[in-house]
Amino acid sequence: MLLGIDLGTTRTVVAHSDRGNFPVLAFESPNGDLLDHFPTVVAARDGELRFGPAAAVMLGEPGWVVLRSFKRLLATSDAGPDTPVEIGDTVVTLAELLIGFLSALREGIHASLGTSAGPLQAMVATPAGAHSTWRFVTLEAFGAAGFEVVGVLDEPSAAAVEYSHRFARHVSGSRHRVLIYDLGGGTFDASLVDLNDGGHTVLHTRGLTQLGGDDFDHVILDLALDAAGLSRAALSAVTTTVLLEHIRACKETVHPNTRNLHVELGAHLLPAERAATGIDEEALVTLSLKKVYAAVRSLVEQTLDTVAEVVPRAGGAFDDEGLSGVYVVGGASSLPVVARTLREAFGRRVRRSTSPSASTAIGLAVAAVSNLTLTRRLGRHFGVFRELGGGARISFDPIFDERTPLGAGGAPELVRRYRPAHDIGHYRFAECSDVADDGSPAGDLVPQGQVRFAFDRRLRGTALEALPVNRGGPGPLVEERWSVDDAGVVKLTITDLDDGYQQSFKLAARN
Ligand SMILES: Nc1ncnc2c1ncn2[C@@H]1O[C@H](COP(=O)(O)OP(=O)(O)OP(=O)(O)O)[C@@H](O)[C@H]1O
Ligand SMILES: [Mg+2]
Repeated sequence: MLLGIDLGTTRTVVAHSDRGNFPVLAFESPNGDLLDHFPTVVAARDGELRFGPAAAVMLGEPGWVVLRSFKRLLATSDAGPDTPVEIGDTVVTLAELLIGFLSALREGIHASLGTSAGPLQAMVATPAGAHSTWRFVTLEAFGAAGFEVVGVLDEPSAAAVEYSHRFARHVSGSRHRVLIYDLGGGTFDASLVDLNDGGHTVLHTRGLTQLGGDDFDHVILDLALDAAGLSRAALSAVTTTVLLEHIRACKETVHPNTRNLHVELGAHLLPAERAATGIDEEALVTLSLKKVYAAVRSLVEQTLDTVAEVVPRAGGAFDDEGLSGVYVVGGASSLPVVARTLREAFGRRVRRSTSPSASTAIGLAVAAVSNLTLTRRLGRHFGVFRELGGGARISFDPIFDERTPLGAGGAPELVRRYRPAHDIGHYRFAECSDVADDGSPAGDLVPQGQVRFAFDRRLRGTALEALPVNRGGPGPLVEERWSVDDAGVVKLTITDLDDGYQQSFKLAARN
C-alpha cells in the first residue's frame, strides 16, 4: 500500500493512492468520532504512554499529562534522538517518543484500511527549513516504526505536487511558477516552485521553524488572561494546556463574518485556581476579533517578510511575474486575516486549498505513484568550522549551499584533499539560513554536532574526545568526501590515503 504521510505539528494526515484517487484516511477515536487526521499528541501517566486519538481523549483526565506539538522539539538547535522529553513524571527520549507515535499511527492505518493493506510504503515529508538532524531522526523513526520509506520531500514541494495535480489548467507557458504559502500548526514555509514541463523544481525556499497556528493560540491566551487580569503564573501547566486546546477550537470556528471570540475561562480553571483568582465558573472573556487580529498582525507580517525572501518585493509590491498562483495551505491559513492579507499582497492569484490541512499528504501520495521529476534543494547552507593558523582562528567552510539540488542525479560529491597540520581533525558542523559576504554563517545557525578523526596513526582506536589537538608536521594525505542524500542528510567520509584508514559519519548523531 502506497501512502503519503504528513507528520504535522498538530495533525498527522495520511493519504493513500486508490486507482487514481488520493483519499485521506479516517481514524476512529476511542469515543467513536471519525477523524480526518491522527492527532499529533502523546499522553502519559506513571510511565504508560498513549498516542494519537487515544491520547487526545485523555486531556483533563486525572493523572494524565498530555503533550501536543512535540514535533516542535525537533526544531531546537540542540535536539537529537537522545534528547529527553518530560511528559509529567514520565521521561522518554525524543526517538522513543517518535517511534511510539509512528507505531501507533501504523496500527491506526491498518485499522482504517483493513487487513488487506499489506506492507506500508510511505512517502514522507519534513519542513523545508528542517536541519539534518531533524530529517535524520524523522526518517529513522519511520523505519523503526515499521514503515518502508520510499522517499522524502519537503512539505512545500509536496503541496506543489498537489497544486499541479489539481490546477494543471492554470499552469501555462508564461505562468508556470507557484508560490506555496504553508502556515501549519508549528511551522511556516514559503517556496517558489517551477512547474515547467511536468517537472517540479523548487527554486527558493524559506522557512520559519518556530511559527505556526500554535503561536496564534498563545497570543489569544495572553489576550484573554490579560482581559481577566490574570497572568500565566496563576495557571497550572495542565490548565494552560486545556485552555490552549479550548482556544484552538474557538479559533477554528472563526469565519469572515465572526466579530468576537468567546473564551470560557472560568470553566477551564481548576477549582483551586478559581478559588485563588476569584474567577467563577461561568466567567467568559469576550475578545473582539479586531483586537485578536491586531495582536497576531506581527506574526502574519513575519510570514510575508519570509515570502519576500523567495519572491522579490519592491516598495511593498510583490513581483508576481510568471506566478500561476499563490497556493495557500496549512490549517492556520484558515484564519480569515491570513487570506485577506495575502489577497492584499497578491490579488486574485491567491488560491486557497479546499483541504488546507491535507494538501501535503495528498501531494506526497501523488508523488509516490507518479513519475514526476522533482528537483529539490537543500534549503539551508551546510558547512564546517575549521581551525586556521594552529587553532588561533576559526573559519567557516561552507560545504553545500542552500541551492544544492537533492534527489535523483542531485548533489555531486564534493572532495577535498590536504595534508593536515594537526594530529587530530576536529570537525564542528553547522547549518545556517544565510552566509555573509565574507563567508561567515549568518541568519539562524544550528550546530550539527561534531566528530574527531585521528590524523596521527598512533591515536587511532583511542578516545579522542579527551585529547587536546596538537600542531605537528604535515600529516598523511587526507581525503574528505562529502555527499548529501535524498533526504538532505549529509555524509562525510574521511580517508587517510597513505594507508587507507577510513571513517564515515552521518551528520545527525550528536556528541
Ligand atoms: N478553521 C481554522 N481556522 C483557523 N485555524 C485553523 C483552522 N483549522 C485549523 N487551524 C489551525 O491550523 C493549525 C494546524 O494546521 P496543519 O494541520 O496544517 O498543521 P500541521 O501540519 O499539523 O503543522 P506543521 O505543518 O506546522 O507541522 C492549528 O494551529 C489549527 O488550530
Ligand atoms: Mg503541515
